[in-house]
Amino acid sequence: MNAIARWLVLLLSLGVAGYGLFAYFALPPGSTVAPEMRAAYAAHPVRILVHVVASAVALLVGPLQFFPAVRAQRHLHRALGYIYFVAVAVGGLAGLATAFIAYGGLVARAGFGLLALVWLLSTFLAVRAARAGDFARHEVWALRSFALTFAAVTLRIYLGTFMAAGVPFPVFYPLLAWLCWVPNLLVIEWFVLRATVAPR
Ligand code: HEM
Repeated sequence: MNAIARWLVLLLSLGVAGYGLFAYFALPPGSTVAPEMRAAYAAHPVRILVHVVASAVALLVGPLQFFPAVRAQRHLHRALGYIYFVAVAVGGLAGLATAFIAYGGLVARAGFGLLALVWLLSTFLAVRAARAGDFARHEVWALRSFALTFAAVTLRIYLGTFMAAGVPFPVFYPLLAWLCWVPNLLVIEWFVLRATVAPR
């Protein structure tokens, strides 16, 4: 990742993490979402609040790990890595619980539920590879994990685009639950494949 991409990812991540914390802790929770979503969150406040806080931590910490200056300080990289791991574990489990009450029917619930599972799994495999000293494997799983964390950003980019295009919310929202993360993973797989076929 080049320097411009690193800063762009960091700024977009800060923006969405800031949105989550502001919208759920400074405003009445759910005031920024559709009435059906607000009602579901009001009925199950713990899962959405835990999800927002823990996932925001993952979104704040994750991009820092791509900065060479951070990775060069191994203790810092390791400490941030464990904070990220705990944040994803908590945010992912709460995200999985939230998937059961998500707006958009079965298609949206399946999309968010699967995202939560692959997010948890990729992050666990990244930590396991690092602990085993397999840093090449660690890097690939960490990239996959963050591509999934970044789904929080891509979801809101697509959301704004569909709204600006005048597509009705109930039509595009179930699609977002898949669109926010499947292309992100495909981009990473393309980079991994390219590096494998033509090693640097
Ligand atoms: C990557 C794995 C993630 C999964 C599986 C996931 C899952 C979910 C689900 C199922 C919902 C409920 C959607 C609905 O009611 O229709 C939700 C909402 C939400 N999530 Fe996540 N999420 C993830 C990442 C994140 C991250 C990294 C953040 C960063 C802050 C975040 C912040 C939020 C917020 C603020 C909401 C409430 C809806 C809104 O105000 O836009 N999520 N998430």
